[in-house]
Amino acid sequence: MVAPAHLAVFISGRGSNLQSIIDACADSDYPARIQVVISNEPDVMGLQRAKDAGIPTEVIPHKAYPSRREFEAALSETLAKYPVDLICLAGFMRVLTPDFVSKWDGRMLNIHPSLLPAYPGLHTHERVLHSHDKESGCTVHFVTPGLDEGPTLVQKRVPVLPNDTPETLAARVLEQEHTAYPEAIRLIALGKVKYTKDFVEIGEVSPYVPPAKQVEPAPAAQPAEAKPAPAAPVAPPQAIPAPPQKTKETPAMSHHHADNAPDQAAIQEADAIWSHFIKAAQYLGVGVIVTLILMALTLL
Ligand code: GRF
Repeated sequence: MVAPAHLAVFISGRGSNLQSIIDACADSDYPARIQVVISNEPDVMGLQRAKDAGIPTEVIPHKAYPSRREFEAALSETLAKYPVDLICLAGFMRVLTPDFVSKWDGRMLNIHPSLLPAYPGLHTHERVLHSHDKESGCTVHFVTPGLDEGPTLVQKRVPVLPNDTPETLAARVLEQEHTAYPEAIRLIALGKVKYTKDFVEIGEVSPYVPPAKQVEPAPAAQPAEAKPAPAAPVAPPQAIPAPPQKTKETPAMSHHHADNAPDQAAIQEADAIWSHFIKAAQYLGVGVIVTLILMALTLL
């Protein structure tokens, strides 16, 4: 494939993986550019991310078509308007027919939040936790007609921690997804991948270095449809919003709470005054009792 590769990214929602590809493409050395972002859902956050980056967007609502084939005919018609080498499914929630998949054989990728072939399909994190697995991860693979079945291109692993919930595990895996997808696209765009139906061979290549992320606190939870903060169309790359993690917060992480919660120092001060007061009352009580006993003894 001649670099830069021309990408179409298919999405259905939040688009954090799309954002990782947008950020990678903002680097002039990265060998790919997104030509179009196609969503089967209107008004999703991923569309806004594309618009903020100045990338053309298309909405093809699957509900508007009587059959899967007609929906896919509309997809093909739209794709034909752009010079596309590679389709990247990034949270695209429609199953594509073998006909559509075979047209893009070896030129369509998907990302899945598990270590395929383990846990294809939905609810991967719940299933990993239910099985008490020690590790999980994500997989970028070529798309073949079977669900989440094509040959693996890049896989990233993460530990499963004792107190993980599906949300905390999803957040840890998602962070890896954001490196895995740009890495996989780069391998293909550099012509390093030999693909046959069930085999992938990767040639020598320098490691992929993701763009530096800005360090900022995790964003508050927001619905998939919510509009993201406006972003500059190109570099510097933005930090990718991740779902809120249910980790224990240290004071340094508690920015969202700081506005509403009482000041910690004031609470400590009030606590100290209260314990001095209790101690003084105890001494006073003992003093009064001793005095009463002495008076009683004197009277006897
Ligand atoms: C990701 O976890 C991806 O692996 C799965 O769907 C999710 C999409 O997330 N296929 P986003 O829309 O990219 O944020």
